[in-house]
Parts: sequence; structure tokens; C-alpha cells
Amino acid sequence: EQNVHEKINKQFEELIATLPSDKGAIVPTLFQYQGFWYPPISVFKGVLLMQDHFKAQPTDIFLTSSLKSGTTWLKAIMFSTMNRSKFEFATHPLLTAGPHDCIPYLDAYIIDHDVEALHSPRLFASHSAYSLLPKSVRDSPDCKIVYICRNPKDVFVSHYLFAMKLRPPMLPPLSLEEAFDLFCRGVCEYGPYFEHVLGYWNASLEFPGKILFLKYEEMRKEPVKHVKHLAEFLGKPFSAEEEKEGVIEEIVKLCSFEKLTSLEVNKTGKVAFVPEMQIGNENFFRKGQVGDSTNHLTPEMIERLDKIAEEKLKGTGFKF
Ligand code: A3P
Repeated sequence: EQNVHEKINKQFEELIATLPSDKGAIVPTLFQYQGFWYPPISVFKGVLLMQDHFKAQPTDIFLTSSLKSGTTWLKAIMFSTMNRSKFEFATHPLLTAGPHDCIPYLDAYIIDHDVEALHSPRLFASHSAYSLLPKSVRDSPDCKIVYICRNPKDVFVSHYLFAMKLRPPMLPPLSLEEAFDLFCRGVCEYGPYFEHVLGYWNASLEFPGKILFLKYEEMRKEPVKHVKHLAEFLGKPFSAEEEKEGVIEEIVKLCSFEKLTSLEVNKTGKVAFVPEMQIGNENFFRKGQVGDSTNHLTPEMIERLDKIAEEKLKGTGFKF
């Protein structure tokens, strides 16, 4: 155990000195590793650990996403869908625990937990790009991956406002314009955004039974339909009786923005993905609206990002 950490620390120190770096929004500096931007906090070490040591089990389930694409919401939905026979809605764990306490980020969790000791099916989340997931996960014909994406303008605005709340006050201010320029150049935590989305999109075309590709906007429009489909994909379809009893609607209601934001745990609770950074749960809930970016971006910014999207997505068959 000690050896694994020593080895990773050494690998980390050597690597970090060789990687391209640029400005971060939440942390001062991001480092580009295998094409994607990471903060140099221990989660980056977690990625190295995860890549080197994680062994996929056939029953493993991964929730994957870039930042601010609806991860918190989907964590609540996947946790309550997978565990629906274990809990009553009136005393559900989500009433007293934040969604982030219910499904851990593997990249951070693996640093100081024994993932082998978890009961199956193991539920993990990760912001890692598809190409950076452990090889055993990508190669496993059985473990499942659910990816959620969101339109890049809303992702950027959500990310910027989130980052401004978490950015340490001793760092120089980062304007919306500068952060936007960084985002357009692909520089943001776990970015470039388009490459992140397309990595999972292409993989979902290649392995449709293994990777379910979801869109935040579509889930907002028809949550019941998508939760039903999600359960089928995860091998836990709702029975006719459950459907008649309104279990899907109950899950949707429990995980709704309105319900989760009304709970004390999501107003005052905190989560520490890595020991050096505690984040108030409230930061993961802002407006939960589709298209709020138009209230923050200029028409020129919208045009620039739309154009980048058009170029990046050309010929991929994918549309936001
Ligand atoms: P906004 O900042 O646009 O409001 P993530 O969980 O990946 O960090 O994404 C956060 C975004 O999802 C935020 O978007 C947040 O408000 C929204 N969100 C959080 N919980 C939600 C829920 N239960 N339903 C819909 N959107 C939710």
C-alpha cells in the first residue's frame, strides 16, 4: 500500500514537470495530461492510480460526465434507481445525504479507499475522458457506462459561476471574458469539452450496449421516459407493477431540482472529494435551467461558441 503511494507520488512529480500548463478557474494552474486538463490536486494522482490499479468487475457501473453537465442530478437518479428495492421514499438516504455522498468519484475515492471491498454492483462516477478511463473498464464487455452531456454554452456559464464561488480569494480575479476564451481554447477542468463529449459519443456508437449517452436537455424535457430507459439499460427494468405504482415518478420527484434544493443537507452540508478541498453542497445547485447562458453571454460569444461547436461536430453525427 505504502509502496503504491510512493510510486504514484514519484510518477506524479516526474510527470507534472513535463506537462503543458495553463490557467485554471478553480485552481491557479491546470496541467494537460493525455490531451485533457487536470488540476494538480490529488485527484490527478487518483487518475494515475485508477489507470494503473483499478480492475473492472463485470457488474460495475460508471456515471461519466464533464463538469456542470448534470452529474449531481444523475447521481441521485442512478443511486435511487439502482437501490429502489432497498429504501422507502419516506426515509430515503437522499433526504439526508447529498447525491455526491451516494456515488463516489472513483478518481478521488481510489486514493484512500479499498475499492475491492465495495459490494457489487459498484457505482462510481468519473469526470475522466473516455480515453483516460482504466483500460479494464473500456475493455470489459459487461460493465456499463452512462454519460451525460449538456449544451456547451450552459456548461460554460454554469462552470464559470461555480468556479467563481470556489476560486480562492488570494488568486487574481478571472473575468468571464478570459474564462470564456480559455474554454473556447479547450482549457478548463477535464476539458477540452468537445473532445470529452465526442470521446464518449463515438464510444457509445461503437458499444451501444455498454455506453448510454444522455443529454441534460432531453432529460429535463422527459425525465420519466429517460429514467425508464436508464433502468432498462442498467439491467434493472421497472416492472409493470412498479410502473403502475408510480415508482418512476417518485424517483423523478425525489431527484428533482426543487426537492433536492429544499433539503437541509443540500443547503448546509459539505462534501470533500479530496481532503484539501471541501465544497458546500449548495454549490452544485444553481438554477437548473436550459438556456440560462443567454442571460450571461454576449451575442458575439454565443456566435463564437456555436461556430466552434459546428466545426468540432462536423461529420460526427452528434448535435447538442
Ligand atoms: P446550472 O448552474 O445551470 O444551474 P454538475 O452536477 O455536473 O456539477 O452540474 C450542475 C448543474 O446541474 C447546475 O446547473 C445545477 O443547477 C444543475 N442541477 C443540479 N441538480 C439538478 C437537478 N436535480 N435537476 C436539474 N438540474 C440540476
